[in-house]
Amino acid sequence: MKTFVNLVLGLFIVKAIVAAPSRQVRQTPGRYDASNYDVDLEKLNFEDQDIYEYEDELTIDEPQIEIGTLTPPVGEPLLPDEEVPLKPHTPVQSTGGSGVLGPDAQGDLPTCLLCTCLGGSVYCDDVKLETVPPLPKETTHFYARYNKIKKIHKSDFAEMNKLKRIDVTSNQITEIDEDALRSLPQLEELVVRDNKIRQLPELPNTMTLIDVSHNKLGGKGIKNEAFKDMNNLLYLYVTDNSLDHIPLPLPHTLRSLHLQNNNIQMMHEDTFCNLKDINYIRRSLEDVRLDANPINLSRTPQAYICLPRVPTGRLY
Ligand SMILES: *[C@@H]1O[C@H](CO)[C@@H](O)[C@H](O)[C@H]1NC(C)=O
Repeated sequence: MKTFVNLVLGLFIVKAIVAAPSRQVRQTPGRYDASNYDVDLEKLNFEDQDIYEYEDELTIDEPQIEIGTLTPPVGEPLLPDEEVPLKPHTPVQSTGGSGVLGPDAQGDLPTCLLCTCLGGSVYCDDVKLETVPPLPKETTHFYARYNKIKKIHKSDFAEMNKLKRIDVTSNQITEIDEDALRSLPQLEELVVRDNKIRQLPELPNTMTLIDVSHNKLGGKGIKNEAFKDMNNLLYLYVTDNSLDHIPLPLPHTLRSLHLQNNNIQMMHEDTFCNLKDINYIRRSLEDVRLDANPINLSRTPQAYICLPRVPTGRLY
């Protein structure tokens, strides 16, 4: 892993220096911000201290160019193939043969030069992305927080059969194509917090965590029975939207349901429990948040008898 990080960092620096003077526009690779990532880059032992100095020079006050505006001349690839050393043990290798740097976006940097690819994880936080970049086929975890992505298209994650987690927190997403995610066979975690999404797309039944908090989901933002067959779902976070009902039915596996600060006014006595079966216990659902909704929880006293804990919310 150390060797791989060194390799990527080294390439990253060398390419930027080589590429910069010969081009009319200068590119600034994505800044490293190790504190955001699961792997602490600082703790890795870099043999070549020069890397740090180069990196500092590169990232201080460099002019920032919008990714979408980069259009390298036709026939002159940014990174000629002979300059890219391929190591047989590199963790991320696309089947398309583009190697350690990941696939080339048309007219853009290779994804693993713009972003950081470590193992199956691709980190693209805060690099001014306006669209999802083409990802190496082996990607399991994709992070693109704090960017300017506006839409997630059907083609963005097509055939990403190993993808487990997508985190696009704090973008400008208004729309996710209805069929953009439903065919991902291993997707477990979708984090789309802090966007402008009006409609939750169809998701595969492999989901364990869905966080669509702080978006624009209204009364029709979540389809009927959207979570019905998600037999692994543990966490459903829909805080800060405009939902006017609790999405039903809730899978029995669910542990946390966060619906605070919505527009929920009504609840049925069998929203959580089963009125026909007095012995039914919903043991796992121990964290229900309904505060900051125009609902009076005291009106449905029978609705919580099967729960380990009464939901948080207005009880008077
Ligand atoms: C909430 O419901 C309870 C039980 O029906 C009722 O006594 C109470 O007045 C209601 N509170 C408000 C603010 O409507």
